[in-house]
Amino acid sequence: MTAKRSLPLSRVYQLLEPGPVVLLSTSLKGRANVMTLSWLTMMEFEPPLVGCVISDRNHSYGILEKTRECVINVPTVELSRQVVGCGNTTGRTTDKFAVFGLTPASASRVAAPLIAECYANLECRVFDARLLSRYSFFVLEVVKAWIDPGRKDPRTLHHRGGGSFMVAGETIKLPSKMK
Ligand SMILES: Cc1cc2nc3c(=O)[nH]c(=O)nc-3n(C[C@H](O)[C@H](O)[C@H](O)COP(=O)(O)O)c2cc1C
Repeated sequence: MTAKRSLPLSRVYQLLEPGPVVLLSTSLKGRANVMTLSWLTMMEFEPPLVGCVISDRNHSYGILEKTRECVINVPTVELSRQVVGCGNTTGRTTDKFAVFGLTPASASRVAAPLIAECYANLECRVFDARLLSRYSFFVLEVVKAWIDPGRKDPRTLHHRGGGSFMVAGETIKLPSKMK
């Protein structure tokens, strides 16, 4: 085994980053917003529960807290420019749908829009907000899910920190008890 070096604790997240990076859309009083999000995790199969950490410095935090609705949109590598753009600008001052050329589409169960260009869209409602004050952690319930059936092996983005991303590639089959 080669010698290992100490890793600064501030970089631990870069190892466990689950990805994929998503675009979280919200809407308040008819005005849609979108932010980039990579700190998210599955918590339950069905109904699907997804936990995500959203800093309260983000405009999206206040909208989600107020409306309790959002859409998790899953982009692929073709949307890289929009992914970094939406993660480096704020909806307080920017209409990101217009600036980054994203197309809002009506959702069926929530007021927040789907992003048409993304290969999957998960309509969500806030399921549990008890960890907000301590961890800015929203538990979301997916109430409706959409997928583009034409995309078999979507090349999703996975954030490795500091502007580095892995792009999902090959799919392999292994024996697994997980459904
Ligand atoms: C690759 C990437 C991943 C990000 N992941 C998160 C995240 O998990 N949680 C978070 O609060 N902000 C995250 N951000 C930062 C927000 O997307 C950023 O602060 C954005 O400007 C917020 O937009 P808003 O003010 O319109 O809500 C990420 C940014 C990038 C570029």
